[in-house]
Amino acid sequence: MIIEKDVDRILVSKSEIAKRVKELALEMDEFYQGEEVVLVCILKGAVTFFSDLVRSVSFPVQFDFMCVSSYGSGSVSTGDVQIKKDLSVDISGKNVLLVEDILDTGNTMMALIELLKERNPKDIKLCTFLNKPARREQPIEADFCGFDIPDEFVIGYGLDYDERYRQMPYIGVLKREVYE
Ligand code: IMP
Ligand code: MG
Repeated sequence: MIIEKDVDRILVSKSEIAKRVKELALEMDEFYQGEEVVLVCILKGAVTFFSDLVRSVSFPVQFDFMCVSSYGSGSVSTGDVQIKKDLSVDISGKNVLLVEDILDTGNTMMALIELLKERNPKDIKLCTFLNKPARREQPIEADFCGFDIPDEFVIGYGLDYDERYRQMPYIGVLKREVYE
């Protein structure tokens, strides 16, 4: 792949991803015990992970999609979210599981969960494929987490830099020269 020249190193390989997705699905099966769950894919970054995950869980699911972006800039983020595309199903009384690509400062997910709680779901949980604990600004942890990673900018498996690299089948560290 032409774009691979911009990758400094592979952080999570294709086979490690496949193995971990299966493990996460088993954790979820154990937790939900056959109950129906609305799986919410947070666009766009979580698309790849979402599509692997939904084919590995055994409880019944409904798919939904949401696109959000956080207001505010940089470290003074207000934590508010702007909804660019809202859910299409009514989540009141339902089990909701948000599927996110990466939990970084936590500002986006913290605000989104607060907002969705007002719609009275039975339960709301968060699954993130990647977690960067070093950069957290909010008291939020994922209920299901693929991998804890160091504070480096990563791409692939849905994650982008400036909308590029999402198609790569593994998680790679982006060369600093690409964004510096
Ligand atoms: P936060 O947790 O509110 O800071 O925002 C998390 C969002 O920032 C994710 O959904 C990603 O879109 C983006 N993000 C954070 N770190 C990275 C990274 O290393 N690579 C690509 N996107 C990232
Ligand atoms: Mg992004």
